[in-house]
Amino acid sequence: MLITVITAVAQEHRADYRVVPLPDRIDGIKDKDFLLKSTCLIDYPAGNRDMERVAVMLSGYIEDLTSMHLSTRPVKSSTNNSGCISLSLDPKMINDEGYRITVTSKNIEIAGKTPAGVFHGIQSLRKSLPVGQTTTVIMPAAQIVSNPRFGYRGMHLDCVRHFFDAETVKRYLDIMALHGMNRLHWHLTDDQGWRIEIKKYPRLTEVGGWRKGTVLGHNSPVNDGIRYGGYYTQDEIRDIVQYATDRFITIIPEVDMPGHMLGALAAYPELGCTGGPYEVWCQWGVADDILCVGQDKTLQFVKDVLDEVMQLFPGEYIHIGGDESPRVRWQQCPRCQQRIKDLGLTAHGKQSVEALLQGWFTTQMQQYLAAHGRHIIGWDELLGCDVDTTATIMSWRGAEPGAEGAKLGHDVIMTPVGPLYFDYYQTKDTWNEPTAFGGCNTLKKVYDFDPVAADLPAGMRHHILGAQANVWTEYITCEPQIQYQILPRMAALAEVQWMEPAAKDYQDFKARLPHLVDIYKHYGWTYRAKSLAVEEEEQEQP
Ligand code: ACM
Ligand code: ZN
Repeated sequence: MLITVITAVAQEHRADYRVVPLPDRIDGIKDKDFLLKSTCLIDYPAGNRDMERVAVMLSGYIEDLTSMHLSTRPVKSSTNNSGCISLSLDPKMINDEGYRITVTSKNIEIAGKTPAGVFHGIQSLRKSLPVGQTTTVIMPAAQIVSNPRFGYRGMHLDCVRHFFDAETVKRYLDIMALHGMNRLHWHLTDDQGWRIEIKKYPRLTEVGGWRKGTVLGHNSPVNDGIRYGGYYTQDEIRDIVQYATDRFITIIPEVDMPGHMLGALAAYPELGCTGGPYEVWCQWGVADDILCVGQDKTLQFVKDVLDEVMQLFPGEYIHIGGDESPRVRWQQCPRCQQRIKDLGLTAHGKQSVEALLQGWFTTQMQQYLAAHGRHIIGWDELLGCDVDTTATIMSWRGAEPGAEGAKLGHDVIMTPVGPLYFDYYQTKDTWNEPTAFGGCNTLKKVYDFDPVAADLPAGMRHHILGAQANVWTEYITCEPQIQYQILPRMAALAEVQWMEPAAKDYQDFKARLPHLVDIYKHYGWTYRAKSLAVEEEEQEQP
């Protein structure tokens, strides 16, 4: 009896390296266990600010989960690191974001080619820890090595349809970091609001940031009549960008154009084909009113906005949207028709002159951004507009546009509605779920997704940069609901993003998931507990 109890306690305080996403290799080393205690120091290379920061973060993570406080220490390479966790850089490693953790009875070394790799190693070590107060964690001697399959490992967040404050966005970044993700696609402008302060055009947020009310349900005739809105100041954005950068996450802002622009049109009606008046939309869907690209002042407006966007977001990519842009206004607009004539656009194949006008407009913005060293990402509608292959395509209307884009020579990010729209339901039992868009993207469907289509020729596979889940928030009104929609589906996505398909195993993943969920619980995050049950998957077999 006594022996059983002692064993149970020891088990509880033992690290388990089989985390989510599962590392490529976990090889045992013939040595005694390492005993992690609060007297262990976390060493980092003296003078390296990134390594100092991640060392402090590791200390925080260990304290969060175990209540042990470990101090950090800057060291020269010759320092004796016995009994320590040493963070180090190894230029010989192959992948910029890969990591190697070596645990011996003497010490733990977390190595990466870059601090980002070390950070991912830290996340892996963090997830291996038991959750709950303790004074010692037994760390079995082992070497753990992992390299991500894809360089682009994203999550998207729509902060327009509902607005989420800076603290919520930061927690979203925390959740991403735990899952080894590195790109936040931040949807900041749309028909239902303009959420980014632009100094040159203050009405964008003063007027365009607010709607008179919000439709109830899926576009019912009933509006709640409650003024709704908000926006991020440039100071808040800089702070969020820094918070992301500290976690090796690049934020890709999206300014959706030329459609999904009612927020801007309500503020500056002269930018539309009819001149308005326009209102910030109180319902969901696709609006006919879009930017009038027949006038030069519209192009100047967009460039001015992009100037401020580029100042705030230092990353390579700016997302310019391009989805769901009806052409009815352009067909009726003398200025837009004149532009088509002046440019000598002629319809060919499936492409109308208005589609080519969108292509021309997009190319103007693409070239403007390129002159500032930036690249565009756009939704897959751009494939129908003759844009050149320096545009990266985000495949959302299924996986086929992604394959088509790769064949044409575009880089592609896979975010197909099935299974990567996390605003969709996660079960067929929708009655017992928070209201969602529709559809059914189960945990297993997410897990089984391969961003690289089986029939994509080998020579084109390098165009698939990675995968991302999208979180549109028409029906998501609060942070717990965001978390419910993404957890635990993000865990499944993390294995899609990190692991080779041949190494993936859903049942094994499900066995490893409860420990990750213990970490969710520890941080007080909301998640869909039913997705952990084995039975549900069986019910959902077609
Ligand atoms: C989209 O869902 N309209 C990209
Ligand atoms: Zn026009």
